[in-house]
Amino acid sequence: MPHLRPYVSAVVRRIPITTREQRVEALDLAGHNPFNLPADQVSIDLLSDSGTGAVSVDQQAWAQRGDERYAGAESYYRYRDALREVVPYRHLLPVHQGRAAERVLFTALLGEGRISLSNTHFDTTRANVERLGAEARDLPNQELFDLDSDHPFKGDIDVAAVREVLDGPDGHRVGQILVTITNNGGGGQPVSMANLKEISALARERGVPLILDAARFAENAWLVIRREAGYEDRTPLQVSREAFELADGAVASLKKDGLSPEGAFIGLNDTELADRCEVDVIATEGFRTYGGLTGSTMEQLAQGLREVVTPEYLADREHEAAYLAERAHHAGVSTIRPSGLHGVYLNAGRLLPHLSPAQFPGHALACALYREGGIRCAELGSLYLGTLDENDQLTTPAPFELVRLALPRRVYDHSHLEYVGEVLAEIAKNPESVPGYRITENPPILRHFRCRTEPLS
Ligand SMILES: Cc1ncc(COP(=O)(O)O)c(C=O)c1O
Repeated sequence: MPHLRPYVSAVVRRIPITTREQRVEALDLAGHNPFNLPADQVSIDLLSDSGTGAVSVDQQAWAQRGDERYAGAESYYRYRDALREVVPYRHLLPVHQGRAAERVLFTALLGEGRISLSNTHFDTTRANVERLGAEARDLPNQELFDLDSDHPFKGDIDVAAVREVLDGPDGHRVGQILVTITNNGGGGQPVSMANLKEISALARERGVPLILDAARFAENAWLVIRREAGYEDRTPLQVSREAFELADGAVASLKKDGLSPEGAFIGLNDTELADRCEVDVIATEGFRTYGGLTGSTMEQLAQGLREVVTPEYLADREHEAAYLAERAHHAGVSTIRPSGLHGVYLNAGRLLPHLSPAQFPGHALACALYREGGIRCAELGSLYLGTLDENDQLTTPAPFELVRLALPRRVYDHSHLEYVGEVLAEIAKNPESVPGYRITENPPILRHFRCRTEPLS
Protein backbone atom coordinates (compact mmCIF):
# COMPACT_ATOMS: atom_id res chain seq x y z
CA MET A 1 0.00 0.00 0.00
CA PRO A 2 1.64 3.33 -1.01
CA HIS A 3 2.09 5.88 1.77
CA LEU A 4 -0.43 8.75 1.83
CA ARG A 5 0.39 11.72 4.04
CA PRO A 6 -2.66 12.05 6.34
CA TYR A 7 -2.90 15.88 6.32
CA VAL A 8 -2.45 18.95 4.12
CA SER A 9 -1.40 22.55 4.87
CA ALA A 10 -4.29 24.69 6.08
CA VAL A 11 -2.24 27.82 6.87
CA VAL A 12 1.27 28.42 5.58
CA ARG A 13 4.34 30.45 6.54
CA ARG A 14 6.74 31.89 3.95
CA ILE A 15 10.34 30.78 4.36
CA PRO A 16 13.22 33.10 3.43
CA ILE A 17 15.16 32.26 0.28
CA THR A 18 18.63 33.71 0.84
CA THR A 19 21.82 33.98 -1.22
CA ARG A 20 25.10 32.34 -0.25
CA GLU A 21 26.57 35.81 0.28
CA GLN A 22 23.82 36.71 2.76
CA ARG A 23 24.32 33.43 4.61
CA VAL A 24 28.10 33.89 4.88
CA GLU A 25 27.46 37.32 6.40
CA ALA A 26 24.76 36.00 8.76
CA LEU A 27 27.04 33.21 9.93
CA ASP A 28 29.85 35.73 10.61
CA LEU A 29 27.51 37.94 12.63
CA ALA A 30 26.31 34.87 14.56
CA GLY A 31 29.87 33.99 15.59
CA HIS A 32 29.47 30.81 13.53
CA ASN A 33 27.03 29.39 16.05
CA PRO A 34 23.70 28.33 14.48
CA PHE A 35 21.91 29.03 17.81
CA ASN A 36 22.71 32.75 17.30
CA LEU A 37 21.10 32.98 13.83
CA PRO A 38 17.84 34.94 13.61
CA ALA A 39 15.17 32.52 12.37
CA ASP A 40 14.25 34.82 9.48
CA GLN A 41 17.63 34.04 7.92
CA VAL A 42 17.00 30.29 8.06
CA SER A 43 15.25 28.49 5.19
CA ILE A 44 14.93 24.97 6.64
CA ASP A 45 15.06 24.87 10.43
CA LEU A 46 16.06 21.46 11.75
CA LEU A 47 17.54 22.76 14.99
CA SER A 48 14.89 21.18 17.20
CA ASP A 49 11.70 19.14 17.13
CA SER A 50 10.63 20.74 20.42
CA GLY A 51 7.66 23.09 20.25
CA THR A 52 8.29 23.60 16.54
CA GLY A 53 5.50 21.46 15.06
CA ALA A 54 2.42 22.65 13.17
CA VAL A 55 -0.85 22.62 15.12
CA SER A 56 -3.99 21.20 13.52
CA VAL A 57 -7.17 23.12 12.72
CA ASP A 58 -8.87 21.05 15.44
CA GLN A 59 -6.27 22.20 17.97
CA GLN A 60 -6.85 25.81 16.88
CA ALA A 61 -10.60 25.38 17.20
CA TRP A 62 -10.25 23.96 20.73
CA ALA A 63 -7.84 26.77 21.67
CA GLN A 64 -10.69 29.23 21.06
CA ARG A 65 -12.49 27.60 23.99
CA GLY A 66 -9.65 28.40 26.41
CA ASP A 67 -11.06 29.09 29.87
CA GLU A 68 -8.62 31.46 31.57
CA ARG A 69 -10.11 31.49 35.06
CA TYR A 70 -7.40 31.22 37.70
CA ALA A 71 -8.45 28.02 39.46
CA GLY A 72 -10.36 24.96 38.31
CA ALA A 73 -10.88 26.21 34.75
CA GLU A 74 -12.86 23.94 32.39
CA SER A 75 -9.78 23.79 30.14
CA TYR A 76 -7.77 22.22 32.97
CA TYR A 77 -10.27 19.39 33.43
CA ARG A 78 -10.40 18.69 29.69
CA TYR A 79 -6.58 18.66 29.57
CA ARG A 80 -6.26 16.47 32.67
CA ASP A 81 -8.81 13.97 31.37
CA ALA A 82 -7.15 13.73 27.94
CA LEU A 83 -3.76 13.29 29.60
CA ARG A 84 -5.07 10.62 31.98
CA GLU A 85 -6.28 8.57 28.98
CA VAL A 86 -2.60 8.13 28.08
CA VAL A 87 -0.87 8.62 31.42
CA PRO A 88 -2.81 6.68 34.06
CA TYR A 89 -1.29 8.23 37.22
CA ARG A 90 -3.28 9.39 40.23
CA HIS A 91 -1.66 12.84 40.28
CA LEU A 92 -0.98 14.95 37.17
CA LEU A 93 0.54 18.40 37.63
CA PRO A 94 0.78 20.79 34.68
CA VAL A 95 3.95 22.88 34.21
CA HIS A 96 5.13 25.13 31.39
CA GLN A 97 7.91 22.93 29.94
CA GLY A 98 9.88 19.74 30.53
CA ARG A 99 12.79 21.23 32.44
CA ALA A 100 10.39 22.75 34.99
CA ALA A 101 8.95 19.28 35.60
CA GLU A 102 12.48 17.94 36.05
CA ARG A 103 13.45 20.73 38.45
CA VAL A 104 10.39 20.16 40.65
CA LEU A 105 10.48 16.36 40.76
CA PHE A 106 14.25 16.02 41.13
CA THR A 107 14.25 18.56 43.98
CA ALA A 108 11.80 16.26 45.77
CA LEU A 109 13.66 13.01 44.97
CA LEU A 110 17.35 13.89 44.90
CA GLY A 111 19.77 16.13 46.79
CA GLU A 112 23.46 16.53 47.62
CA GLY A 113 25.30 13.23 47.13
CA ARG A 114 22.37 11.32 45.60
CA ILE A 115 22.64 9.49 42.27
CA SER A 116 20.29 9.42 39.29
CA LEU A 117 20.78 6.38 37.02
CA SER A 118 19.57 6.62 33.43
CA ASN A 119 19.84 5.12 29.94
CA THR A 120 20.96 8.69 29.02
CA HIS A 121 20.18 11.98 30.76
CA PHE A 122 19.15 14.63 28.22
CA ASP A 123 21.25 17.84 28.60
CA THR A 124 18.71 19.88 30.62
CA THR A 125 17.89 16.78 32.63
CA ARG A 126 21.54 16.30 33.56
CA ALA A 127 21.76 20.00 34.47
CA ASN A 128 18.72 19.66 36.75
CA VAL A 129 20.31 16.69 38.55
CA GLU A 130 23.73 18.31 38.89
CA ARG A 131 22.45 21.67 40.15
CA LEU A 132 21.21 19.79 43.24
CA GLY A 133 24.70 18.47 43.94
CA ALA A 134 23.60 15.00 42.78
CA GLU A 135 25.30 12.79 40.18
CA ALA A 136 23.76 11.95 36.80
CA ARG A 137 25.13 8.55 35.74
CA ASP A 138 24.38 7.16 32.26
CA LEU A 139 24.15 3.37 31.89
CA PRO A 140 23.02 2.79 28.29
CA ASN A 141 22.85 -0.43 26.33
CA GLN A 142 26.33 -0.95 24.84
CA GLU A 143 24.81 -1.34 21.34
CA LEU A 144 24.33 2.44 21.42
CA PHE A 145 28.06 2.84 20.82
CA ASP A 146 27.94 1.01 17.47
CA LEU A 147 26.46 3.65 15.16
CA ASP A 148 26.10 1.14 12.33
CA SER A 149 24.37 -1.60 14.31
CA ASP A 150 20.74 -2.23 13.38
CA HIS A 151 19.81 -3.38 16.89
CA PRO A 152 16.14 -2.38 17.24
CA PHE A 153 16.34 -1.11 20.86
CA LYS A 154 19.62 0.71 21.27
CA GLY A 155 17.83 3.07 23.68
CA ASP A 156 17.51 0.41 26.42
CA ILE A 157 19.00 0.90 29.86
CA ASP A 158 21.69 -1.61 30.89
CA VAL A 159 19.78 -3.46 33.63
CA ALA A 160 22.79 -5.54 34.71
CA ALA A 161 24.84 -2.35 35.20
CA VAL A 162 22.02 -0.79 37.25
CA ARG A 163 21.87 -3.91 39.43
CA GLU A 164 25.61 -3.73 39.94
CA VAL A 165 25.37 -0.12 41.19
CA LEU A 166 22.44 -0.97 43.49
CA ASP A 167 24.40 -3.90 44.94
CA GLY A 168 27.63 -1.91 45.31
CA PRO A 169 28.85 0.70 47.80
CA ASP A 170 26.88 3.49 46.02
CA GLY A 171 23.60 1.57 46.10
CA HIS A 172 22.11 3.45 49.06
CA ARG A 173 22.72 6.79 47.31
CA VAL A 174 20.54 6.03 44.26
CA GLY A 175 17.53 8.36 44.42
CA GLN A 176 15.89 7.48 41.13
CA ILE A 177 16.16 5.42 37.96
CA LEU A 178 15.22 7.62 35.01
CA VAL A 179 14.45 6.01 31.66
CA THR A 180 14.28 8.43 28.72
CA ILE A 181 11.83 7.32 26.01
CA THR A 182 12.93 7.65 23.28
CA ASN A 183 16.60 8.16 24.13
CA ASN A 184 17.19 11.64 22.66
CA GLY A 185 20.81 11.97 23.83
CA GLY A 186 21.38 8.51 22.31
CA GLY A 187 20.18 9.22 18.76
CA GLY A 188 16.42 8.98 19.35
CA GLN A 189 16.65 5.22 19.83
CA PRO A 190 13.64 3.47 21.41
CA VAL A 191 13.41 1.51 24.66
CA SER A 192 11.77 -1.92 24.46
CA MET A 193 8.88 -2.99 26.67
CA ALA A 194 10.94 -6.04 27.69
CA ASN A 195 13.63 -3.68 29.01
CA LEU A 196 11.06 -1.50 30.80
CA LYS A 197 9.55 -4.60 32.44
CA GLU A 198 12.96 -5.78 33.62
CA ILE A 199 14.00 -2.41 35.07
CA SER A 200 10.57 -1.96 36.63
CA ALA A 201 10.84 -5.32 38.44
CA LEU A 202 14.32 -4.44 39.70
CA ALA A 203 13.30 -0.94 40.83
CA ARG A 204 10.26 -2.30 42.70
CA GLU A 205 12.28 -5.07 44.32
CA ARG A 206 14.80 -2.47 45.62
CA GLY A 207 12.26 0.26 46.43
CA VAL A 208 13.89 2.83 44.11
CA PRO A 209 11.44 5.07 42.20
CA LEU A 210 11.38 4.40 38.45
CA ILE A 211 10.64 7.61 36.55
CA LEU A 212 10.11 7.98 32.80
CA ASP A 213 11.39 11.03 30.95
CA ALA A 214 8.59 10.54 28.45
CA ALA A 215 8.91 13.47 26.02
CA ARG A 216 8.51 11.09 23.05
CA PHE A 217 6.23 8.45 24.58
CA ALA A 218 4.10 8.06 21.42
CA GLU A 219 7.13 7.73 19.14
CA ASN A 220 8.56 5.11 21.50
CA ALA A 221 5.25 3.23 21.47
CA TRP A 222 5.19 3.28 17.68
CA LEU A 223 8.70 1.86 17.40
CA VAL A 224 7.73 -0.86 19.92
CA ILE A 225 4.75 -1.80 17.72
CA ARG A 226 6.99 -1.85 14.64
CA ARG A 227 9.95 -3.69 16.18
CA GLU A 228 9.03 -5.76 19.27
CA ALA A 229 7.53 -9.23 18.97
CA GLY A 230 4.15 -9.50 20.67
CA TYR A 231 3.26 -5.80 20.23
CA GLU A 232 2.48 -5.69 16.51
CA ASP A 233 -1.30 -5.72 17.01
CA ARG A 234 -1.41 -3.22 19.88
CA THR A 235 -2.40 0.43 19.53
CA PRO A 236 -0.02 3.31 20.35
CA LEU A 237 -2.38 4.28 23.18
CA GLN A 238 -2.24 0.79 24.72
CA VAL A 239 1.54 0.62 24.51
CA SER A 240 1.96 4.14 25.93
CA ARG A 241 -0.30 3.33 28.90
CA GLU A 242 1.53 0.10 29.56
CA ALA A 243 4.88 1.92 29.60
CA PHE A 244 3.61 4.51 32.11
CA GLU A 245 2.09 1.75 34.28
CA LEU A 246 5.48 0.06 34.57
CA ALA A 247 6.95 3.20 36.18
CA ASP A 248 6.17 5.02 39.43
CA GLY A 249 5.99 8.40 37.78
CA ALA A 250 6.99 10.52 34.81
CA VAL A 251 8.15 13.93 33.72
CA ALA A 252 7.44 14.85 30.13
CA SER A 253 7.83 17.85 27.91
CA LEU A 254 4.66 18.05 25.80
CA LYS A 255 6.39 20.29 23.26
CA LYS A 256 7.13 17.06 21.43
CA ASP A 257 4.37 14.43 21.65
CA GLY A 258 1.80 16.92 23.00
CA LEU A 259 1.98 18.54 19.53
CA SER A 260 2.09 21.94 21.22
CA PRO A 261 4.53 24.87 21.40
CA GLU A 262 4.32 24.74 25.19
CA GLY A 263 3.53 22.47 28.13
CA ALA A 264 4.68 19.55 30.25
CA PHE A 265 3.53 17.51 33.23
CA ILE A 266 4.65 15.65 36.33
CA GLY A 267 2.76 12.39 36.83
CA LEU A 268 2.90 10.41 40.09
CA ASN A 269 1.02 7.77 42.05
CA ASP A 270 2.63 8.55 45.41
CA THR A 271 0.40 11.11 47.16
CA GLU A 272 2.99 12.34 49.65
CA LEU A 273 5.55 12.97 46.88
CA ALA A 274 2.91 14.60 44.68
CA ASP A 275 1.98 16.91 47.56
CA ARG A 276 5.57 18.10 47.91
CA CYS A 277 5.78 18.70 44.15
CA GLU A 278 2.47 20.56 44.19
CA VAL A 279 3.77 23.10 46.72
CA ASP A 280 6.80 23.77 44.49
CA VAL A 281 4.61 24.05 41.37
CA ILE A 282 2.30 26.56 43.06
CA ALA A 283 5.27 28.60 44.30
CA THR A 284 7.22 28.64 41.04
CA GLU A 285 4.98 27.74 38.07
CA GLY A 286 1.36 28.55 38.90
CA PHE A 287 -1.67 27.13 40.68
CA ARG A 288 -2.09 23.33 40.40
CA THR A 289 -4.82 23.66 37.77
CA TYR A 290 -2.72 25.57 35.24
CA GLY A 291 1.00 25.39 36.20
CA GLY A 292 1.92 28.37 34.01
CA LEU A 293 -0.17 27.29 31.01
CA THR A 294 -3.03 29.28 29.48
CA GLY A 295 -6.45 27.69 29.12
CA SER A 296 -5.98 27.84 25.33
CA THR A 297 -2.73 25.91 25.56
CA MET A 298 -4.33 23.25 27.76
CA GLU A 299 -7.15 22.82 25.20
CA GLN A 300 -4.61 22.59 22.39
CA LEU A 301 -2.66 20.00 24.36
CA ALA A 302 -5.76 17.90 25.06
CA GLN A 303 -6.45 17.70 21.32
CA GLY A 304 -2.75 17.19 20.51
CA LEU A 305 -2.66 14.17 22.84
CA ARG A 306 -5.61 12.65 20.98
CA GLU A 307 -3.94 13.19 17.60
CA VAL A 308 -0.43 12.03 18.50
CA VAL A 309 -1.47 8.45 19.30
CA THR A 310 -3.19 7.84 15.96
CA PRO A 311 -1.40 5.21 13.85
CA GLU A 312 -1.74 7.35 10.66
CA TYR A 313 0.14 10.24 12.27
CA LEU A 314 2.91 8.01 13.67
CA ALA A 315 3.28 6.03 10.44
CA ASP A 316 3.75 9.32 8.60
CA ARG A 317 6.37 10.41 11.12
CA GLU A 318 8.27 7.17 10.55
CA HIS A 319 8.00 7.58 6.79
CA GLU A 320 9.31 11.15 6.95
CA ALA A 321 12.38 10.24 9.06
CA ALA A 322 13.14 7.21 6.88
CA TYR A 323 12.90 9.39 3.76
CA LEU A 324 15.39 11.92 5.14
CA ALA A 325 17.79 9.14 6.18
CA GLU A 326 17.49 7.62 2.72
CA ARG A 327 18.26 11.04 1.12
CA ALA A 328 21.35 11.36 3.34
CA HIS A 329 22.57 7.88 2.35
CA HIS A 330 21.92 8.68 -1.31
CA ALA A 331 24.14 11.77 -0.85
CA GLY A 332 26.88 9.52 0.55
CA VAL A 333 26.49 10.58 4.19
CA SER A 334 26.11 7.90 6.85
CA THR A 335 23.66 8.23 9.72
CA ILE A 336 23.06 6.54 13.06
CA ARG A 337 21.20 3.32 12.34
CA PRO A 338 18.39 2.41 12.54
CA SER A 339 16.73 5.80 12.17
CA GLY A 340 14.39 6.84 14.97
CA LEU A 341 11.46 9.20 14.43
CA HIS A 342 12.34 12.65 15.70
CA GLY A 343 15.46 13.24 13.69
CA VAL A 344 18.29 11.89 11.60
CA TYR A 345 21.79 11.95 13.08
CA LEU A 346 24.60 12.43 10.52
CA ASN A 347 28.04 10.90 11.08
CA ALA A 348 30.16 14.00 10.46
CA GLY A 349 33.32 12.31 11.73
CA ARG A 350 33.09 9.81 8.89
CA LEU A 351 32.22 12.40 6.23
CA LEU A 352 35.03 14.80 7.18
CA PRO A 353 38.03 12.61 8.09
CA HIS A 354 40.43 15.45 7.26
CA LEU A 355 39.21 17.24 10.42
CA SER A 356 40.37 16.04 13.82
CA PRO A 357 37.90 16.19 16.75
CA ALA A 358 39.79 19.33 17.90
CA GLN A 359 38.65 21.00 14.67
CA PHE A 360 35.02 20.13 15.47
CA PRO A 361 33.85 18.22 12.35
CA GLY A 362 30.20 18.10 13.53
CA HIS A 363 30.12 21.85 14.01
CA ALA A 364 31.89 22.27 10.66
CA LEU A 365 29.18 20.24 8.90
CA ALA A 366 26.38 22.12 10.69
CA CYS A 367 27.91 25.45 9.56
CA ALA A 368 28.39 24.12 6.01
CA LEU A 369 24.72 23.09 5.82
CA TYR A 370 23.73 26.63 6.69
CA ARG A 371 26.30 28.32 4.43
CA GLU A 372 25.50 26.15 1.41
CA GLY A 373 21.76 25.74 1.86
CA GLY A 374 20.28 27.88 4.64
CA ILE A 375 19.66 24.70 6.69
CA ARG A 376 20.02 25.04 10.46
CA CYS A 377 20.82 22.07 12.68
CA ALA A 378 22.72 21.20 15.85
CA GLU A 379 26.12 19.63 16.45
CA LEU A 380 26.30 16.70 18.87
CA GLY A 381 30.04 16.16 19.02
CA SER A 382 33.14 17.53 20.68
CA LEU A 383 31.95 21.15 20.70
CA TYR A 384 28.98 20.10 22.84
CA LEU A 385 30.34 17.10 24.75
CA GLY A 386 34.12 17.38 24.63
CA THR A 387 36.32 18.58 27.50
CA LEU A 388 38.48 21.67 26.90
CA ASP A 389 41.48 23.05 28.80
CA GLU A 390 41.91 26.65 29.96
CA ASN A 391 43.18 27.61 26.46
CA ASP A 392 40.01 26.20 24.86
CA GLN A 393 41.97 23.26 23.45
CA LEU A 394 40.16 19.95 23.29
CA THR A 395 41.52 17.43 25.80
CA THR A 396 38.84 14.71 25.68
CA PRO A 397 36.78 14.40 22.50
CA ALA A 398 33.15 13.26 22.39
CA PRO A 399 32.67 9.56 21.51
CA PHE A 400 31.25 10.57 18.10
CA GLU A 401 31.12 13.65 15.89
CA LEU A 402 27.43 13.91 14.99
CA VAL A 403 24.97 16.42 13.59
CA ARG A 404 21.27 16.14 14.42
CA LEU A 405 18.71 17.00 11.76
CA ALA A 406 15.64 17.26 14.01
CA LEU A 407 12.26 16.99 12.32
CA PRO A 408 9.57 19.45 13.44
CA ARG A 409 6.22 17.65 13.45
CA ARG A 410 3.95 18.06 10.37
CA VAL A 411 6.02 20.99 9.02
CA TYR A 412 8.29 19.88 6.16
CA ASP A 413 7.23 17.79 3.18
CA HIS A 414 9.27 15.60 0.86
CA SER A 415 10.32 18.49 -1.37
CA HIS A 416 11.99 20.20 1.61
CA LEU A 417 13.70 16.99 2.68
CA GLU A 418 14.81 16.32 -0.88
CA TYR A 419 16.40 19.78 -0.87
CA VAL A 420 18.29 18.88 2.33
CA GLY A 421 19.54 15.74 0.55
CA GLU A 422 20.70 17.82 -2.43
CA VAL A 423 22.62 20.28 -0.25
CA LEU A 424 24.23 17.36 1.61
CA ALA A 425 25.20 15.81 -1.72
CA GLU A 426 26.89 19.07 -2.79
CA ILE A 427 28.91 19.12 0.45
CA ALA A 428 29.74 15.41 0.20
CA LYS A 429 31.11 15.87 -3.35
CA ASN A 430 33.97 17.93 -2.01
CA PRO A 431 34.24 17.29 1.74
CA GLU A 432 37.88 18.51 2.03
CA SER A 433 36.67 22.03 1.22
CA VAL A 434 34.76 22.14 4.54
CA PRO A 435 36.95 24.06 7.01
CA GLY A 436 37.51 23.12 10.63
CA TYR A 437 36.70 25.53 13.46
CA ARG A 438 38.23 27.01 16.57
CA ILE A 439 36.49 28.53 19.57
CA THR A 440 36.86 32.29 20.04
CA GLU A 441 34.51 32.73 23.04
CA ASN A 442 33.96 29.88 25.45
CA PRO A 443 31.41 30.50 28.22
CA PRO A 444 32.03 28.24 31.24
CA ILE A 445 28.62 26.53 31.13
CA LEU A 446 26.17 25.51 28.36
CA ARG A 447 28.98 26.06 25.85
CA HIS A 448 27.23 24.82 22.68
CA PHE A 449 24.32 27.25 23.13
CA ARG A 450 26.49 30.28 23.82
CA CYS A 451 29.98 29.97 22.32
CA ARG A 452 31.38 31.84 19.30
CA THR A 453 33.71 30.17 16.81
CA GLU A 454 35.57 30.96 13.59
CA PRO A 455 36.60 28.85 10.61
CA LEU A 456 40.26 27.86 10.31
CA SER A 457 41.81 29.25 7.16
C1 LIG B 1 14.36 13.77 26.47
C2 LIG B 1 14.09 15.19 26.85
N1 LIG B 1 13.87 15.51 28.14
C3 LIG B 1 13.61 16.76 28.52
C4 LIG B 1 13.57 17.79 27.61
C5 LIG B 1 13.32 19.20 28.10
O1 LIG B 1 12.06 19.64 27.70
P1 LIG B 1 11.73 21.19 27.50
O2 LIG B 1 12.49 21.64 26.29
O3 LIG B 1 10.24 21.23 27.31
O4 LIG B 1 12.16 21.91 28.73
C6 LIG B 1 13.80 17.53 26.26
C7 LIG B 1 13.77 18.63 25.26
O5 LIG B 1 14.21 18.53 24.14
C8 LIG B 1 14.05 16.19 25.86
O6 LIG B 1 14.28 15.85 24.59
